Amino acid sequence: MLAIVAIAASYLLGSITFSFVVAKWWKGIDIRKHGSGNAGATNTLRVLGKGAAITVLALDVGKGIAAVWLGRWLGDTPVIEVACGLAAIIGHNWPVFFGFRGGKGIATTIGVMATLHFVPALLAGIIAILSIVLTRYVSLGSLLFTCLTPLALWLLDYPTTYIWSALMIFAFALLRHRSNVTKLLRGEENKLGAKRGM
Ligand code: G3P
Repeated sequence: MLAIVAIAASYLLGSITFSFVVAKWWKGIDIRKHGSGNAGATNTLRVLGKGAAITVLALDVGKGIAAVWLGRWLGDTPVIEVACGLAAIIGHNWPVFFGFRGGKGIATTIGVMATLHFVPALLAGIIAILSIVLTRYVSLGSLLFTCLTPLALWLLDYPTTYIWSALMIFAFALLRHRSNVTKLLRGEENKLGAKRGM
């Protein structure tokens, strides 16, 4: 029973779309109608600048960390921790409070994966950050991070629960980045630092 409460609470926590809240409070706008239209830290950076983006990033990462800790506290098994992490990412991507129109889940994924399995997430994160520095495509780095983490988990011999959950998270990321993949293939993807007006 406590496990179900933890998973439901994690979904609700994930459903708090901080980019929407911060953009409304900062400039009175709906972030989903500006820039790339994504409710996330990257688009907040594009539309509102560094201060708002760092705030959103910290809050979105934080809700991923909090969800896993909630599972750890109330569930006390790796499966419940993983389920809470997945629930937070699902909440972020399809939030009940915002008409199921959320973000792409990467910041929340960072919080979840760093809390569940820090070393594999760090290794994948380093490569992802390098790719962003070199190409300035955040979406490419996001996809690399979510695809390399399950690989690192497998290479480092982590339990299958983590590998399967990381593969599911990669599937969520791919699903949410469909338009980014199309733009990347066409060479039309937004680059970090290229401003798009409000
Ligand atoms: O984490 C989101 C990022 O991968 C892409 O965001 O706004 O460029 O579509 P955006």
